[in-house]
Amino acid sequence: MAERVKLHDKEFEKFIDREKIKEAVEKVSSEINRDLADKNPLFLVILNGAFVFAADLLRRYPHDCDISFIKLSSYLGTKTSHTVREVIGLDTNVKDRTVVLVEDIIDTGITMEHIVAQMKNMEAQDVRLATLLFKPHAFEKDFTIDYIGMEVPNDFIVGCGLDYDGKGRNLPDLYKIVE
Ligand code: IMP
Ligand code: MG
Repeated sequence: MAERVKLHDKEFEKFIDREKIKEAVEKVSSEINRDLADKNPLFLVILNGAFVFAADLLRRYPHDCDISFIKLSSYLGTKTSHTVREVIGLDTNVKDRTVVLVEDIIDTGITMEHIVAQMKNMEAQDVRLATLLFKPHAFEKDFTIDYIGMEVPNDFIVGCGLDYDGKGRNLPDLYKIVE
């Protein structure tokens, strides 16, 4: 893949290779497989961005589980809008379940906080958070993230499911914006 890509009006440069992503997925996968083997977890994948991570992670999960999806949106262009819009709601009962929320990236933490509160309202027994990427310098909340693939700097990133206004989700490496 190219070292630089142009998406809409912005340039992005390659900054994390697919091999590093694979290592991050394997790390999270081995932790989850160890912790949840006998829990029959419900993996709740947060669309759109988490579809790539979820596909890699869940094909490595060898035990009994359920998988469902919700669709949320908080970003407008390259900035968080600080509000979360629910686009497709949850169709699965989470009561008394071990629920693993699967995210592509945790940035401010607003999205996750919103969903965790919703899971607790719906009486999930145990809510765990798994994210491929985490931006510690953007994080504004204080909840614990159980499984983190890797930490990234506070740059705008695309690839591996992450997009800039709909573009770049298909890139197999991670690219960061060139300011
Ligand atoms: P938060 O609510 O601020 O934690 O933002 C989480 C959501 O914003 C993620 O699920 C992504 O969809 C999106 N997001 C955050 N940072 C980036 C980025 O660098 N590139 C693309 N999308 C991002
Ligand atoms: Mg997302």
